[in-house]
Amino acid sequence: MAPWWEGAVLYQIYPRSFQDSNGDGIGDLAGIVRRLDHLAWLGVDALWLNPTYPSADADWGYDVVDYTDVHPDLGTLTDLDRLIAEASARGIRILLDLVPGHTSDRHPWFRTRRDWYTWVAGAESPNDWLCGSAASAWTHDPTCGRSYLHTFRPEQPDLNWWSEEVREEFDRILAYWFARGVAGFRIDAAARVVKSRDLAAPAAGPWLRPPPDLAEVHAVLRRWRNVAERYGDRLLLGQTWIEDAGGLSAFFGENDELHIVHPFALSVSQLYALVLHEIVGSVEASLQGRGSAAWQASSHDVIRFPTRWGAGDERRTRAALMLLLGLRGTVILYYGDEIGMSQTNVPARRARDHWGRDGCRTPMQWADVPGGGFTDPDVEPWLPLGDLRVNVESQRDDPASTLSLCRDLIALRRQLPELATGCYEPIKAPPGVWACRRGERVVVVANLSGAATRLTGVEGTVRLATERARDGEIVKGALRLEPWEAVVVAD
Ligand code: BGC
Repeated sequence: MAPWWEGAVLYQIYPRSFQDSNGDGIGDLAGIVRRLDHLAWLGVDALWLNPTYPSADADWGYDVVDYTDVHPDLGTLTDLDRLIAEASARGIRILLDLVPGHTSDRHPWFRTRRDWYTWVAGAESPNDWLCGSAASAWTHDPTCGRSYLHTFRPEQPDLNWWSEEVREEFDRILAYWFARGVAGFRIDAAARVVKSRDLAAPAAGPWLRPPPDLAEVHAVLRRWRNVAERYGDRLLLGQTWIEDAGGLSAFFGENDELHIVHPFALSVSQLYALVLHEIVGSVEASLQGRGSAAWQASSHDVIRFPTRWGAGDERRTRAALMLLLGLRGTVILYYGDEIGMSQTNVPARRARDHWGRDGCRTPMQWADVPGGGFTDPDVEPWLPLGDLRVNVESQRDDPASTLSLCRDLIALRRQLPELATGCYEPIKAPPGVWACRRGERVVVVANLSGAATRLTGVEGTVRLATERARDGEIVKGALRLEPWEAVVVAD
C-alpha cells in the first residue's frame, strides 16, 4: 500500500496567527483545535505546524529553548496531545517542525554543553562564511574569549552535529514526539545540518553560508529514518535546495533517508509558464524517477503567492491554485492560500520579524468582523489584520469562490489519482500557457497570460475549471482559454 503522504495535501499553520482561543491576540493550539472542522471540510491530509517549542522569539520559534515542550504563548503539552487526538479523529495528521541546525542562545545547552556547539579561539572569523544577515557567521563570546558558529542570527548558535551526544539527543527528541503521536517532521535545512569540519572549505551557495559535510548529512538522515521506522508510517519531509550537491534524489538514500524533499524554488519564482516548467522539470529530473517533492507557493518565509503572482487579480490566484494542486507529489498550502489571502502591509511600528517577513504571517482571515474571527473584537492581534474582505465565512457557501475551488481541487486529487501521483510530462503550448499531461489521462492547462489562447490536441471532459460554468464541458481537440483561465481535463 502506498504511504499516506503520497500525493497528499499538507496545510501549513503558523500557530501564532491561526486562531486565538484565550483573547491574548496570539493564536494557540486550542485555537487550531477549534478550527479543525474547517480543515477537515477542506480535505487536507495533515497539518505542518511551524515550531511550537518554547522559544526566545528572536526568530519566532526557530530559536528553540526546549525541544520537548510547548511555547507557553501557544498552550501546553496537554493542548498538543489534544490537538493530535482531535485531528486524528478527523483523519488529519500532525507534523511538527524540527529545527536541528541551531538552538537559541538561551537554550540551557548553550551554557551547560558548550561542546555541543562549534567554537574557534579568539574574536577573528576563521573564514568567510556568512550568516543570514550577510555578516560573519561567527560571533565572539566575551565570557569565554572564543567565537561560535551561527548560520542564522547570533541568537541562534549552530549545533555541532559532529558530536555523538547531539545525535543521540535528537534521536531521543524524535522518539519522544513520535511516541506522543506526531506523524512526522518538516525538517528545517535538512540538507545542511552537519557543517564542514574544514574551516578552510569555501562558503556554500549564493548566500555564502557555512558549507555542509554531505557524507555526514546523509549519516544523520539515516539515523533519523531509523528512529522514524520504529514508529511505523512517520514522515520525514526535509527542506532541501535544488542546487544541493548530488541532486535531490540523493536525499532519499537507499530508501533510508528522507521520504520527501522540499525544494524552495517555486516559493520564490515568477508566474511565467516557461520559468515554472523549468523549475518543475529540473526538480523532476533531479529526482531521477525516485520519490517525490513537496510543492509550495506561499510560506512563512516568502511573499504570499496571491500577491507575488496575482498582483491582486483573483483570476491569477485561481489559476495558480489549479497549477499548484495539479502537480505531482505533495502539495503544501500555507494557511489562507485557500481563500487567496494576500500579503499584508505591516507598518514599521508593528513589525515583529527582523527579516521583514511579517506581511505573510498576519492572522488568518475568518470573517469580516472586528478581530477577523481570529481574536476577540476588542483585542489587538500580535500582528495587524489584513484585508478582511477576503475571508472564509463569505466564501464558504459560495460555489464560485476561491475556497470552493480549492476544496474541489483537493477532492479531485483523490478522485483522479493521476493528478496527485501521475507522471509529469510538459505539453507544447502557446507562449504563456502552462500545460502538462499527468499520467495517462489527465491534462492540466493554465493560461498564465492576459490574452485569450487556444491549445489543440486536448480531448476529454473538463473536470474542474477556474471559470466554474465550464465544469463538465466536453473538449474535442481544441481548448479555448480566456486570460488567466485554467482547467483540468480528463478523458
Ligand atoms: C525557516 C525560517 C527560519 C530559518 C532559521 C528556515 O528554514 O523556514 O523561518 O528563520 O530557517 O531557523
